[in-house]
Amino acid sequence: MIDKKEILDAFYFRHACKVFDETKTIADDDIKFILETARLSPSSFGFEPWHFVVVQNRELRTRLKEGAWGATEKLDTASHFILGLTQRSFFTKYDAPNIKDFMRDVQRLPEDVIETRSSFYENFQKSDFDLNSERTLFDWASKQCYIPLANMMTAAAMIGIDSCPIEGFNQRLTGRLLSEEFDIDTGKYGISYMLAFGYRISEQKVKTRRPSNEVVSWKR
Ligand SMILES: Cc1cc2nc3c(=O)[nH]c(=O)nc-3n(C[C@H](O)[C@H](O)[C@H](O)COP(=O)(O)O)c2cc1C
Repeated sequence: MIDKKEILDAFYFRHACKVFDETKTIADDDIKFILETARLSPSSFGFEPWHFVVVQNRELRTRLKEGAWGATEKLDTASHFILGLTQRSFFTKYDAPNIKDFMRDVQRLPEDVIETRSSFYENFQKSDFDLNSERTLFDWASKQCYIPLANMMTAAAMIGIDSCPIEGFNQRLTGRLLSEEFDIDTGKYGISYMLAFGYRISEQKVKTRRPSNEVVSWKR
C-alpha cells in the first residue's frame, strides 16, 4: 500500500507546467511507465477508444504550433509530447465490424457473451445515451480518453515528472495537419488533447481550489 500523504503530495506537485527545462529528458523507462498507466485505464465496455502518438520529431512539433496556440512553449521545451487521439464511429458505433473482433481477440469473450454484449451495446448507444450522431459518439469516446490523460499526469507526478494537458488548439486545423503530416486517418481518429511531459524550470504557483464542501455533498 502507498501512503495517502505521498499520493496527495503528488496531486499537489502536479500542476499545469507552462515551460519545461529543455536540458532534461525523461528516461525511457519512465515514459514507458507513464504510457502503461494510459493503456491500463478503464473505458466504457472496455473498448479502449484511444491512441497515443508520442511526437519527438522536432519538425513535426514545429508544424503542430500552427494550430496550437496553447502549446507553443510546451512544444519547444517538453521532453515528451503526446497527442491524445480518439476513435471515431468507424470503430465505436455499435455495428462497427471491429467491435466483435475486439471482444473475441482482445477481451477473449465466448461467442454467446459477444452476442449478448453486442445487443446491450447497441441499446446503450441508441437509447440510454442517445449516441446517434458522429459528434455525440466522438464526444462520448473522447470523454473516455480523458481517463488515461488524468492517469498519465498523476503517475508522472508520483515519480517527480511534470506535465501539462492542452486543449489550446484548433481541432480542424490540427486535424488537417495530422492527416497531411502524421499519416493519421482522420476519418477514423480525431484529436482530443495534447499532453506535454518534462521537468519544470520554475516554481509552481500556489494551488487554488474551491473548498471541499462546495465540491462534494453527501446524502446520508
Ligand atoms: C482539458 C484541459 C485543457 C487544458 N488546456 C491547456 C492549454 O491549452 N494550455 C495550458 O497552458 N494549460 C491548459 N490546461 C491547464 C489548466 O489551465 C490548469 O490545469 C488549471 O488552471 C488548474 O491549474 P493546475 O493544473 O496548475 O492545478 C488545461 C487543462 C485541462 C484539464
